[in-house]
Amino acid sequence: MEARGRYRILPGASPSGTFRPPGDKSITHRGLLLGAMAEGTTLLLGANRGEDCRALEGALSALGVAITEEGEALRIEGSGGRLRPPGGTLHLGNAGTGLRLLAGLLASQRFDARLDGDDSLRRRPMGRIVEPLRRMGALVEGREGGRFPPLFIRGGPLRGIDWRTEVASAQVKSSILLAGLRAEGWTSVTEPALSRDHTERMIPYMGGKLLREGLTVRVEGGTSLRGRRIRVGGDPSAAAFPLAMALLSPEGRVTAEGILANGTRTAFLDVLERMGARILREPEEGGAEEGAEESIRVTAEGGGALRGTVIGGDEIPRLIDEIPLLAVVGARSSGVFTVRDARELRRKESDRIAATVRLLRAFGAEAEERPDGFTVRGELSLRGTRVESGGDHRIAMAAVAAGLAAAGETIVEGSACAGVSFPGFMETLAALGLGGSITEEERCEG
Ligand code: S3P
Repeated sequence: MEARGRYRILPGASPSGTFRPPGDKSITHRGLLLGAMAEGTTLLLGANRGEDCRALEGALSALGVAITEEGEALRIEGSGGRLRPPGGTLHLGNAGTGLRLLAGLLASQRFDARLDGDDSLRRRPMGRIVEPLRRMGALVEGREGGRFPPLFIRGGPLRGIDWRTEVASAQVKSSILLAGLRAEGWTSVTEPALSRDHTERMIPYMGGKLLREGLTVRVEGGTSLRGRRIRVGGDPSAAAFPLAMALLSPEGRVTAEGILANGTRTAFLDVLERMGARILREPEEGGAEEGAEESIRVTAEGGGALRGTVIGGDEIPRLIDEIPLLAVVGARSSGVFTVRDARELRRKESDRIAATVRLLRAFGAEAEERPDGFTVRGELSLRGTRVESGGDHRIAMAAVAAGLAAAGETIVEGSACAGVSFPGFMETLAALGLGGSITEEERCEG
């Protein structure tokens, strides 16, 4: 039996108040993996406990890494790079980051491992990591010649490589860097545009040797990492939803505290400002302590006029996960909202170009799909409708934002997936005064 869930949304209420988003999903993944490789103990404070991160915790536990909850922290006993062969398949659920990064870690381990996930993960491209990991010396097989999971990995001694990726993907970059930490000599990755850089920040913090020159990062193999305390900042990609809901309601005013200030993650705020949104960013104290990246408080205020914009080029990897939500804001703006150079969106938890266009059209907006993006003609009104998340967490939450801004009732089928990245999504919305407007019903499918 699978719990799919359903949101019922009635418009009218304006969110107001202050909230803390869950810990960042990307940083939690890296903290778990680097903590598992390090010598000694790592404490991850404020880790994300959504389903993706829990799936990785489960896989690491099956590899012999002791992970325990200690108050608000996760305690990881490092293996010093010596993992234990798993008893069976490692299941990563819906987590592309978990599967791709773990593959990099396993490439140097002298045992066999099989990595698998749900139907969505089984459709996600793996050739982009399989090819470099093979070049480094690991044996990696997968469905259709290694293009899709399940992946089978037999690790062994690795040699450093210089790799140029065609896609700006932090998952690819990080997978290769994790393998590079155990390879002979230096490993470099060059990407076409800068993607999120949390791995590059965390490796030196834990004692690894890493250099950056422009779009190239180099890591030295064979240096051991030390377990450390790591404070995980709030996830900007989760915070984006309540902030956008505030912008779309006339009386909305919401503040997100403790969110990552990292420019490789906050480009959606730049775009919202360009669209005329009232956004206030304030620095927070205590940024760099305990390996934390700097954080900010962000306030978004609704009621202002918004206008369309064009998103493309190097900006795309810095806001890739926020595009479905930005498109909903675009649909409520004047003029035209355009996304281009975003072919990668088709390879996420769902084809997010098709899913976003379908979503917008269901609400009555005029949207047109292109191979690498879409356009939306801003409308003054959206009408409530019934939509299906397709099991994609970001589509489900973007649909809630659209439903709140639409006239009449909206039903979002398949709401349970929000827990993949935003545990406590409903509770956060209720605390911001939306409890009367959004209700979630359980619905199980066997
Ligand atoms: C992530 C990188 C991005 C992003 C995903 C998380 C990461 O994927 O979409 O949600 O933690 O490295 P790509 O790097 O494949 O674009």
